[in-house]
Amino acid sequence: MFKKAIVKTPGESLVNGLSRAGLGHPNYEQALVQHGNYIDVLKHCGLEVIILEKDENFPDSTFVEDVALLTPECAIVTNPGAASRRGEVASMQKTLEKHFIHIEKVFEPGRVDAGDIMMVGAHYYIGLSERTNQKGALQVIKHLESYGMTGSTVELKHVLHLKTGVAYLEHNNLVASGEFLSKPEFEKFNILEIDAVESYAANCIWVNDRILLPVGYPKAYETLSQAGLDIIEVDVSEFRKLDGGLSCLSLRF
Ligand code: GLY
Repeated sequence: MFKKAIVKTPGESLVNGLSRAGLGHPNYEQALVQHGNYIDVLKHCGLEVIILEKDENFPDSTFVEDVALLTPECAIVTNPGAASRRGEVASMQKTLEKHFIHIEKVFEPGRVDAGDIMMVGAHYYIGLSERTNQKGALQVIKHLESYGMTGSTVELKHVLHLKTGVAYLEHNNLVASGEFLSKPEFEKFNILEIDAVESYAANCIWVNDRILLPVGYPKAYETLSQAGLDIIEVDVSEFRKLDGGLSCLSLRF
C-alpha cells in the first residue's frame, strides 16, 4: 500500500510542454483545476500528498513520475531523455532526501524517464524508448539488484513511454494496449485489453486497491469493472495534450 505521493503544481509554462499528441495546447486554468482534483482523489485513496511549488523554468515538471523511480528500498533519480527536462532532477533530489535514506542516480550516457518503468512487486520492467536507452536501463537494473530487487528491459516502438500503453494493477492484472498485447514478457499476466480507440485509458494507476482511470473511456471502464476493479474516474484531458496522464502526475510510495 502507498502512504504518500509527491506532485508538482503545473506552471503557466505548461502550455509550452513537450508534445507529440497533436491535440493543441492545454488550457492552463483547466489544467490547474484538474490537478487539484487529482490531488483530492489521491487523498481520498488515503495518501498524504506532498505538493511541490511550480517551476516555470521547466514546462513539463508537473510530470514528476519521469524524474525518479521510488522503490521500498531506495529512490533512483533519473537522467531524463529530453534535454529540456534534465534540469528537473536537482530539486526533486532535494525533496527525496527528506523521505529516503538511500538515493541512487542515473548518469550520462544513461538516459531514463521513469515513465518507462513499471513496478510489479520487486521486479521492474524498463521500456527502451526514445527517452530511455539501454545504458540507462542497465544502470537502473544494477541499482535495483544492489538492494535485492530485479529489472528487465522491454522494447517499445509506438508510444512515448512504457506506461503510456501498459499498467500493472496488482493481483496479476495487467492493462495493456497496442504493441503490449503480444509481448512474451507479459504473457503470464491476466491481460485486460484496452481497445485501440481508447488507448489513452491504458495509462491508469493502482492506488491502494482503487483504480484511477481517465474520464471518457467507456469500453475501458467496462473491461476494468468486469474484472471486479474499484474504479475512480479522473479528468486529465489537459495533460493528455502533452502526452501525460494519471501515472505521470505523481510519485507514489
Ligand atoms: N510532455 C511530457 C514529456 O514529453 O515528457
